[in-house]
Amino acid sequence: MSMERWRREGGSVAAMRRMAQRALPRPVFDFADGGAEDEGTLRANESAFDAVEFLPKPLEGTDARDLSVELFGRRLALPVIVGPTGLAGLFWPQGEIATARAAAAAGTAYCLSHGSVCTLEELAAGGASPRWMQVFVYRDRGFTDELTDRAAAAGYDALVLTIDNQLLGNRERDARNGFSIPPRLRLSALPSLMTSLPWLLRMAPEFKTITFGNYVRPGEAADPAALAAKMASLLDPSMSWKDVARVRERWRGPLLLKGILHPDEAARAVDAGVDGIIVSNHGGRQLDGAVASFRALPPIVERVDGRIPVLMDGGVRRGADVVKALALGARCCLVGRPVLWGLAVAGEAGAAHVLDIFRREIDRVMGLLGAAGIDALGPHLLAPRPDLDSWKAARPPAGPVRKMKDASE
Ligand SMILES: Cc1cc2nc3c(=O)[nH]c(=O)nc-3n(C[C@H](O)[C@H](O)[C@H](O)COP(=O)(O)O)c2cc1C
Repeated sequence: MSMERWRREGGSVAAMRRMAQRALPRPVFDFADGGAEDEGTLRANESAFDAVEFLPKPLEGTDARDLSVELFGRRLALPVIVGPTGLAGLFWPQGEIATARAAAAAGTAYCLSHGSVCTLEELAAGGASPRWMQVFVYRDRGFTDELTDRAAAAGYDALVLTIDNQLLGNRERDARNGFSIPPRLRLSALPSLMTSLPWLLRMAPEFKTITFGNYVRPGEAADPAALAAKMASLLDPSMSWKDVARVRERWRGPLLLKGILHPDEAARAVDAGVDGIIVSNHGGRQLDGAVASFRALPPIVERVDGRIPVLMDGGVRRGADVVKALALGARCCLVGRPVLWGLAVAGEAGAAHVLDIFRREIDRVMGLLGAAGIDALGPHLLAPRPDLDSWKAARPPAGPVRKMKDASE
């Protein structure tokens, strides 16, 4: 397909998803698209945004909006960050490096997954910035220390400790499809292979090198199946706040906890000296039945009370979703699947296109709402809802609307 045509066809994140579905063999598409068990949380993440409506003030609009936000001393051009997704290199050759470049070009941060195909050093060598590194607490605490130290040595700007992956979620699509690393394509995937021939041709030379780069020890075989088993066995369901304290002590830069849904854990994270929270249920891939991230956000914002930035991810598919999350107190949103869909369709250009869709949609929504900049967003621009009212009452009134020229002051 010509660049022009996919740009036209892929005018929304939902359209990019449909294009990715055509571009990928079913097991690979489902690996990203699927969630745990009945996928209730996966669906709830997206639908939760529908329950909140805008209350626009068009007469406060400006003809240019400032979408930038400050986070950990850096200014991001838009309040959307690329979240960590393992095996992005399965969707496009050098997928992580391509996506990090797209994020840097869009003026935002890229978070590398522990389970990237490239190593964290290879990504850093590309120079894309800001770059964040995501890690777990492992049974072998020394390995968490090692990844932390490697991230520091490679100049990562922030460390993300994911806490909701202490056991692997039960992803039934993967079991049904016989999804494996390295990809072994079954006969049942044949129909989808016909439409995904370009992916196959592009990726076939890479199959041998698809592995969990950060886990390969010098001099050891990079057998991905063995590494996947090793990774699963390394996860530790008995991790605790002591481990958070250990990582906090070791990592000097901004530290975020990802996977917080309970306000008590959010409050404790602040006490533990963490610099940011990511309200997340792992995109519905872990605990099916867990609360939708967007629904979990307001009580967490209330408890954190502005002491550290609260970020969120899960089901963010439209600029309007980002604006709603920000109006309820999130500093930024992370996106997982949308960028993988763009990557699968057109590599770096596809990932960049998805970020651009978000940028354009956020800008349009802010224009229609009458919001000149991100700090003009607040609950006053949302229609009242009884279940959000208690939270609103506890929040200080939104600051004055600042026009563009003030925003740069
Ligand atoms: C294919 C895939 C791989 C993921 N791998 C990781 C990971 O390695 N570490 C992590 O913290 N989160 C991982 N996640 C979760 C994302 O970081 C993020 O929380 C989630 O995708 C957000 O939801 P969204 O996909 O609806 O935007 C993964 C998500 C997907 C779709």
